[in-house]
Amino acid sequence: MKIGIIGLGYWGPNLVRNFLGNKLVEKVIACDLKEDRLAQIKSKFPGITVTNNYKELLDSDIDAVAIATSVNTHYNLAKEALEAGKHIWVEKPFTSSSQQAKDLIKIAESKKLNIFVDHTFLYTGAVIKIKELIDNGELGDILYFDSVRINLGLFQHDVNVIWDLAPHDLSIMKHVLVGKEPIAVTASGISSYNCLENIAQMSVHFKDNSCFAHFHVNWTSPVKIRKIMIAGKKKMLVFNDLEYSEKIKIYDSGVEFDSTESIHNALVQYRTGDMYSPQVGQSEALTSAVSEFINSILEKRKPLTDGQNGLEVVEILEASQKSIKKRGTPVYLNDNSEFDPLKQAEINRSEFTGSEVLN
Ligand SMILES: NC(=O)c1ccc[n+]([C@@H]2O[C@H](COP(=O)([O-])OP(=O)(O)OC[C@H]3O[C@@H](n4cnc5c(N)ncnc54)[C@H](O)[C@@H]3O)[C@@H](O)[C@H]2O)c1
Repeated sequence: MKIGIIGLGYWGPNLVRNFLGNKLVEKVIACDLKEDRLAQIKSKFPGITVTNNYKELLDSDIDAVAIATSVNTHYNLAKEALEAGKHIWVEKPFTSSSQQAKDLIKIAESKKLNIFVDHTFLYTGAVIKIKELIDNGELGDILYFDSVRINLGLFQHDVNVIWDLAPHDLSIMKHVLVGKEPIAVTASGISSYNCLENIAQMSVHFKDNSCFAHFHVNWTSPVKIRKIMIAGKKKMLVFNDLEYSEKIKIYDSGVEFDSTESIHNALVQYRTGDMYSPQVGQSEALTSAVSEFINSILEKRKPLTDGQNGLEVVEILEASQKSIKKRGTPVYLNDNSEFDPLKQAEINRSEFTGSEVLN
């Protein structure tokens, strides 16, 4: 396979290193508009060809293109690459809108080309283990998914903090909560310095209230936290990505009611059993992601993180942006319509009556 990589900023060099490390890759051409980025990559990996013109790369004999540029450039570069007959790898988030994602999926299908969206976390040992535990019923029916991803983060110039950080957690949520259908999003956030939110909270509501998911992202936190809590009816799990050896802890804890008739009469019993930390694979997620991309092309199948996967995450991001603009009004995912009280029965939450004045 011959691979082109566009964008050699913060993330692109990791792609160069991992593509070069794959034994099925015979050639890498790397591209950036900035000469200093090209010089740096050339000094680190002298064997690769570099160019400052992505059109040169698309005109060459490469089989696939990896796009690691800022989000607002993904669509045009991806479209041109597909039209030039190249399979594409696109960094998260896939596109700036769901319409763009749908367009790319349509072009790729018509040309029988693969789209891979780099939802890197799905290739980590920790997420592979979490999925295995949930699929095997170890946690029982999942009640909620709660994530915190905050630090003094790099302010992006084209997307807010949700579009920058939440794709990781959303892709994990979609991957592990099989059979739970997200139907609406509520979000709020503030822009302390410019027009892009740097602190935000988002909730995802599921069909039949079968689950609840919450996301807290922030570029202006004094401490770095990377935690996901997933509670099931049987057991609860905490994934702390900053831990080196015990990334996942499973708590044999829960709440049990002795009656389902009336919450007021029911006796609540708390169960606090043992905690254990399962072994998780330590290999680099990008290495597995690169293998999956290349193997899916060679085996003529869709990759685990395909265009549809990327689209589903973008739909939630898009809904969150609409909800922020409307100060937390719920936005439906199927048609992105704003909250319709007539649909309340479907969402089954009498508390969801919009804003109420307290005094
Ligand atoms: N998967 C992950 O875990 C992960 C981590 C970080 C960033 N990302 C994603 O990677 C992408 C890039 O992020 P970054 O932080 O590396 O950005 P960055 O701004 O550091 O780098 C982007 C680079 O792209 C170059 N570029 C832009 N347009 C170009 C063009 N037309 N031709 C050639 N070069 C061009 C810029 O000169 C710049 O060097 C984003 O989508 C981001 O969300 C993914």
